[in-house]
Amino acid sequence: MRRLDQRPARIDAPTLVGADIEVPLVSGGVRRYVNLDYAASTAALTEVADAVDAFLPWYSSVHRGAGFKSQVATAAYEGAREAVREFFHARSTDVVVFVRNTTDATNLLASALPEGTQVLAFEIEHHANMLPWRRPSLQVTYLRAPDSPGRALDELEAALRGSSGADRLVAITGASNVTGEVWPIRDAATLAHRYGARVLLDGAQLAAHYPINLQDLGVDFLAVSAHKMYAPFGVGALVGPADLLSGGTPYLRGGGAVDFVTLDSVLWSSLPERQEAGSPNVVGAVAMGTACRSLARYGMDRLAAEELELAAYARRRLAALPGVELYALWDGGMPRLGILAFNVRGYWHSQVAAILSAEYGIGVRHGCFCAHPLMLHLLHVDDDEAVHIRHEIEAGNKGRVPGAVRASFGIGTTRDDVEYLCRALEAIVTDGPRWAYRLDPASGEYSPDPETRQWPALPVALSAVLVGRGESS
Ligand SMILES: Cc1ncc(COP(=O)(O)O)c(C=O)c1O
Repeated sequence: MRRLDQRPARIDAPTLVGADIEVPLVSGGVRRYVNLDYAASTAALTEVADAVDAFLPWYSSVHRGAGFKSQVATAAYEGAREAVREFFHARSTDVVVFVRNTTDATNLLASALPEGTQVLAFEIEHHANMLPWRRPSLQVTYLRAPDSPGRALDELEAALRGSSGADRLVAITGASNVTGEVWPIRDAATLAHRYGARVLLDGAQLAAHYPINLQDLGVDFLAVSAHKMYAPFGVGALVGPADLLSGGTPYLRGGGAVDFVTLDSVLWSSLPERQEAGSPNVVGAVAMGTACRSLARYGMDRLAAEELELAAYARRRLAALPGVELYALWDGGMPRLGILAFNVRGYWHSQVAAILSAEYGIGVRHGCFCAHPLMLHLLHVDDDEAVHIRHEIEAGNKGRVPGAVRASFGIGTTRDDVEYLCRALEAIVTDGPRWAYRLDPASGEYSPDPETRQWPALPVALSAVLVGRGESS
């Protein structure tokens, strides 16, 4: 037993599979991949990959199998559910439903909301927290993008005061996937509850970067994706009170969600099975549960502090680069995750992303990041211009859809990575690209011309369509 005066062993930072992977450069040679695309999806934690490897021999059907392996798999699946519950400090009355991802979670909740529910959401939301609410049974009101966290709360309060109805939901992000700004969730939840509304927290960006304590924040529902939490095996979770999810017809209908079926009746199971029809993603759940335990062991406060510091440093560095414009909704006031959206004067966003990839081995994302209304706001695109862009896309030209480049950080991102990005951007601004690039109007993507980089050998052969890009057999 550990003596009280003994300090606990220092927990090393978790490591990622493929952290040292090298990628080809268009001019020849290879270099270590600088992954700055964590906000889109993350590599697996080494611990997660090891847990998946160890579990695979035991993988089997869950819940209904009498075989020993089925029982082991069921215990692992339910253990993962427990790990997710603990990680997010869910209330004992909350249910954890495994879904595919955040999008699946918000769609599930949308399907369970009582008819006529009024949904309040800011226009800055990711489409996953915007489009599911657009359905005939719900009424959605969009609140304008606020210019400060305080303004966000004022607008929310005005909207709550101006709306009525027994059922209301405030659907709010934890952190913007474009600007990295962390939203005033606790205050928003307090406000919403004061007016009798429930709160859904879109935790997709927050989950692996910032502590989420559902009891402390007071939000009702949480939607998250494990592929953004270093467990990319196709699972996510909706966590929240059971009442809404335990009535009516389940979101997915099929085996596993029922206790008894006749030709003209169905007895649906209780939660969580009721909302997990079909064979569940057991491996994904085990991966997610392992990631939760691993992140918790290292400490989410510590992880957040490290990322916020690096993000502040990166923001200062990028803001000081001539020709680089950074986007934000508000000045300071709340923490900002390591998510930075920017443009480089004189270059189209997709061109910058292509140059960073081909010449520097840096992986970023570009475009509108599934948050089109927010990007139109940040880029000052007016309604007439938006209509014009839509017509262009309908006509098959995506080449002039506005957007930005996004660099995003996570476990393993270093100051050296930030410096490397800054040097690359400086070189682009000063000297321009060192290779030719061609725009494909149909996709809106630039690619090196000629492309010289070869795909690595992959476990599943690529189709002929991609052969021109590298692998020749
Ligand atoms: C803030 C936010 N919400 C929701 C989503 C949707 O996540 P998923 O694609 O895993 O469903 C994302 C994905 O980038 C996101 O950033």
